[in-house]
Amino acid sequence: MRAIVCQQFGDLDNLSYREYPRPEVGADEVLVRTRAVGVNFPDLLLVKGLYQAKPTLPFVPGLECAGVIDAIGENVTNLNVGDRVAATNPAFTTYAELTAVPASNAYVLPAGVEDEKAAALLCAHGTAYHALSQRAKLRPGETLLVTGAAGGTGLAAVQIGHALGARVIAACSNEKKLDIAKRHGAEAGINYRSGDLKAAVRELTNGRGVDLIYDPVGGSLAEPLSRVLAWAGRWLVIGFASGDIPNLALNLPLVKGYSVVGVFWGNFVQREPQTARRNHQHLFDLCATGKLQPHIHEVLPLENAAKALQMIATRKVNGKIVLKP
Ligand SMILES: NC(=O)c1ccc[n+]([C@@H]2O[C@H](COP(=O)([O-])OP(=O)(O)OC[C@H]3O[C@@H](n4cnc5c(N)ncnc54)[C@H](OP(=O)(O)O)[C@@H]3O)[C@@H](O)[C@H]2O)c1
Repeated sequence: MRAIVCQQFGDLDNLSYREYPRPEVGADEVLVRTRAVGVNFPDLLLVKGLYQAKPTLPFVPGLECAGVIDAIGENVTNLNVGDRVAATNPAFTTYAELTAVPASNAYVLPAGVEDEKAAALLCAHGTAYHALSQRAKLRPGETLLVTGAAGGTGLAAVQIGHALGARVIAACSNEKKLDIAKRHGAEAGINYRSGDLKAAVRELTNGRGVDLIYDPVGGSLAEPLSRVLAWAGRWLVIGFASGDIPNLALNLPLVKGYSVVGVFWGNFVQREPQTARRNHQHLFDLCATGKLQPHIHEVLPLENAAKALQMIATRKVNGKIVLKP
């Protein structure tokens, strides 16, 4: 089979598109013939050797895909060869024509969800859904501030926050990105490159502050963010796309009575598979009924994976890029 292979950690030039051994299917696994593969920021970290996990070299990156089951392991009873599924892979390897995933990580797709959309709905939307539902326990009417709001997981949080009844404020680095976030459910927007984030939030909330922060960016945004939460607010720590993990003065959550809440979707899927399955099922249902559509920035051939990751590294992607084997 053909796959994107990472030869060594570091530069994206270390990725090549080549023949790779067909994966073996474990007893509790299914083999998926991929039709669409979602690209995520963590894939970039993985290839650079900056992710929490470091696979043994050479390896195939990729966290999510949609496709058709080609083979099943001997213990698998709930899935069949020929089922159309979306799947996440804790061992990566979805940037390939075939990927072996745990059966518990494969979800049969309803007819109304096309392969490309399904592959774009797992990591980013799964993270946002888990963050807002299980971690923050978002209530309708609450105000949600999302940073990096036109990116993969940021735009997903805008959409899901809006769908769950929040008043969403998008924060991005330019007006074009803010327009995209507004088209997907944000009521207001803040340009944090040209404007003052703290002052803008105060103005938009009449000085009260926001109930929830969803922050996939980190870095220098953390200082103003640490001051804009309302009483009993929750700050969802999603990631550090800026490349900088900020420090927080702990007197601020104390004085302002807010909580800092960590979110790790990958571990959640492995530790709480039933809840993760319900989340993903709900996302597929929302997509099938037209209530939520992932924003697909571009579809590229699988062999262009390095180009896709470079676009993510340079902040050029709105929503998601999908690769087609
Ligand atoms: N906790 C979890 O379970 C989980 C799950 C998925 C992803 N993540 C993490 O969340 C972060 C964002 O992921 P994503 O999928 O939303 O990525 P993305 O699609 O690339 O979006 C990230 C956004 O961050 C902003 N940004 C600011 N500085 C940046 C920089 N130096 N390089 C790139 N982007 C920068 C950009 O928005 P502006 O231009 O508007 O600033 C960009 O749109 C990553 O750190 C990722 O590892 C965590």
